[in-house]
Amino acid sequence: MEVVVLDDSAAVASLAADTIEDVVRRRAAANTAAVLGLATGSTPLATYEELSRRTRDDRGPSYAGVVTFNLDEYVGLPDGHEQSYLATIRREFTDAVGVPPERVHGPDPTEETLPSAGERYEAAIEQAGGIDVQILGIGSDGHLAFNEPGSSLASLTRIKTLTATTRRDNARFFGSPDAVPRHVLTQGLGTITRAGHLLLLATGEGKADAVAAAVEGPVSATCPASVLQLHRHVSVLLDEAAASRLVRLDYYREVYADKPDWQGI
Ligand code: GLP
Repeated sequence: MEVVVLDDSAAVASLAADTIEDVVRRRAAANTAAVLGLATGSTPLATYEELSRRTRDDRGPSYAGVVTFNLDEYVGLPDGHEQSYLATIRREFTDAVGVPPERVHGPDPTEETLPSAGERYEAAIEQAGGIDVQILGIGSDGHLAFNEPGSSLASLTRIKTLTATTRRDNARFFGSPDAVPRHVLTQGLGTITRAGHLLLLATGEGKADAVAAAVEGPVSATCPASVLQLHRHVSVLLDEAAASRLVRLDYYREVYADKPDWQGI
């Protein structure tokens, strides 16, 4: 896995935006649809804002043929709730860059059809040809999407129960931990690792321990993000604070500084 340590969160957003645009342009040049895996949470917002800015300034590619899949969704929110991840991703990103709404997907939390939601989501991803690049954040407990500690490293899209830590972390969107839904649908770790390229973004001191465990700790369901170590194409983009507890920090800097120009991210 490639670990890239950048000066600040703006630099992380800029490199992540370059990577996304590159996939969208390459797919368009080949007349095929780019399939983007999108994450919610606060971390990717700067990347979405950067991509939206480039689109506004007429510097971005066309997103008319792009297909997107969210990582996860809350279960039990009233229809159209502003904190649903589908509503969030449309508001924060896909509407602004012009991905047609019918091409924006998320796991379907409709209560009556919940038992088949995971299978249907897996089939939809497969039908689209699989995810080209998957943006990921990381939870303070090392979760990826909503795969909480203990999640099978081979898991597929399914229902999960949030930990108290995650409900506390996400309380800022709902007013209190008790108002955060207890259940979610989430791509599994096995689903996530099928994507062609995984792009993990982490910024801020609060993520330093989780990043160190994911990148340098043992591969274990106790730190779900450690599954990234098993994937053949992972880029971990960090600001200084999120990278601060990595033991091989100097080496990662050296590798990136000496990276051949022809080698893309
Ligand atoms: C949520 C999301 C994850 C995200 C994590 C971290 O739990 N389901 O996909 O990575 O939060 O969020 P943030 O970037 O806000 O710290």
